[in-house]
Amino acid sequence: MLKIMSVSKKFKSGDSFVNAVDNISLEVADGTFAAIVGKSGSGKTTLLSLLGALDRPTSGQILVDDRDICRLGDRKLIDYRRNKIGFVFQGYNLVPNLTAIENVMLPMEFAGLKKTERKKRAARLLKEVGITEEKFNRKPTRLSGGEQQRVAIARALSNKPSLILADEPTGNLDSATGKVIVKLLENLAKTENTTIVAVTHDESISKDAKQTFRLRDGKLVSTSS
Ligand SMILES: Nc1ncnc2c1ncn2[C@@H]1O[C@H](COP(=O)(O)OP(=O)(O)OP(=O)(O)O)[C@@H](O)[C@H]1O
Ligand SMILES: [Mg+2]
Repeated sequence: MLKIMSVSKKFKSGDSFVNAVDNISLEVADGTFAAIVGKSGSGKTTLLSLLGALDRPTSGQILVDDRDICRLGDRKLIDYRRNKIGFVFQGYNLVPNLTAIENVMLPMEFAGLKKTERKKRAARLLKEVGITEEKFNRKPTRLSGGEQQRVAIARALSNKPSLILADEPTGNLDSATGKVIVKLLENLAKTENTTIVAVTHDESISKDAKQTFRLRDGKLVSTSS
């Protein structure tokens, strides 16, 4: 379970401060696909980076499985990011000189899994996200945008994270492909019992989400489910 309590993030901007995230509290149950929506500059990415412990809040608590991640020391934080979180970004961020399957295997290498196990799990995940075997050994440039995003999602799943954070996961895709990726995320939340929090401009994504949180000027203005 993900529980955010009175979380704020202020950034210094010249002589003043920006309340990028302003006293937000929310809860997302395990295995839920949740969307964060809001206009540009409303604080979506900032909130996501706090959840992923890429940044620390100015105040408030973020509980992931009852542990306040804001209180973790640096070493524990690295552990948390590596083992509990899967990130999916808009630009896919695949390693260009690695093949699809090598990209998915990479995080498992940091986790110390044996190569045969890494390969087996990577192949299973790639199939699960709809990448067929003949594409396993292709480098990212020889895959379509949608395929690259599928590989990125498989990679995010590789260390069995309890939370997947996706920032505009369909931002670079045409709307049909975007819909397929959203369905995929929605199904993975169920089959892998992973909580997925996706930031989006795209209203059609939030329709598929079980919960939608709407931000405006850093504040949570509505929650719908
Ligand atoms: N590192 C930073 N330093 C200073 N201000 C920042 C920083 N990061 C974000 N901000 C400001 O915080 C506010 C929220 O930014 P954020 O990136 O979270 O918005 P967003 O909702 O993700 O927007 P977009 O849809 O354009 O990606 C904006 O006013 C932005 O300028
Ligand atoms: Mg953003």
